Order: sequence, then structure tokens, then C-alpha cells
Amino acid sequence: MALRIALASDHAGFEQKQQLSHWLSEQGYEVDDFGPHSEERVDYPDYAALVARGLAAGKADFGVLVCGTGIGMAIAANKVPGIRAANITTPEFAAIAREHNDANVIALSGRFVDLPTNKLIIKAFLETSFGGGRHADRVAKITASESKSAFFADRK
Ligand code: RB5
Repeated sequence: MALRIALASDHAGFEQKQQLSHWLSEQGYEVDDFGPHSEERVDYPDYAALVARGLAAGKADFGVLVCGTGIGMAIAANKVPGIRAANITTPEFAAIAREHNDANVIALSGRFVDLPTNKLIIKAFLETSFGGGRHADRVAKITASESKSAFFADRK
């Protein structure tokens, strides 16, 4: 079965998001485009949340986000429990984000990284498996810290 990719951007990532959506479909992935659907100015946290919540709910296998730098998208997506979003600018880091960190969302720069490079980054990301072993123990600590944070956030 085809991997399901949840995709979104803000206005700064819109042009590349459109191209990437088309390209991912051509590559055989099932693409769910969470928008925006025009070049209007939008706030990246709104679109990061759509993808992150969809992914956390099991509606996709991986998320791809594009804003000006990828930084804001990654920060926002990482607020959703279960999301491990990595802001990536090289194919090498994309592979390591999967192998070591089991990243499930990739946040890309539409302003500072060109489309061919972002395609190589996504390809490396989607084609690299999590390494497990010692990496799994470390990722489990990140997951455990999500519930600890929730515990302390509840206490005034
Ligand atoms: C929008 O101007 C810009 O701030 C946004 O795309 C992104 O780079 C934020 O991290």
C-alpha cells in the first residue's frame, strides 16, 4: 500500500508545496494536501497543526511542511504529542533524522533551499528506515517526556 503523506505550507512555502504535491503523487505516494490552496498570507502554526494532528490521529504515515525556513513549522508541529518534526536542509540530515530520531515530519525551507534539493531531502527522508536499538531507547525518552510535560503543565 502506498505511503500516505500529509502536506501543508504557508505562503512562503506555497509554490514549492504545489510542486512537491505533484511530484510526490508522481512518485506513487498518496498525498493529502492540507493547504493553503492559494498564495494568500497565512500563519504557519495553523497549517503545522493540521498536518501534525492528522498524523497523530493516524491519518497519514509522514508529514511534509514547507514555510520560509522550515523552523516555525517544526516548532509548531512538535507541540503535538507523538510528532517528531525535523527542520532539514540537506539529504544527509534527512536520512539521519529518520535513522536516529524516527522523525515523522519533515519541515522544509521554501525560501533558502531550492526545489531539486528539497526533492532529494524528501526522497532520503521517505526511503530511510528507523534504526531502532539504542536509538529506540532514546526516542522512548522523548515520548516519555511528553507525558511528564503534560503533568507539570497541569500544575499551577
Ligand atoms: C513567513 O514570513 C515566515 O516567517 C515563515 O514562513 C517561516 O519562515 C517561519 O518559520
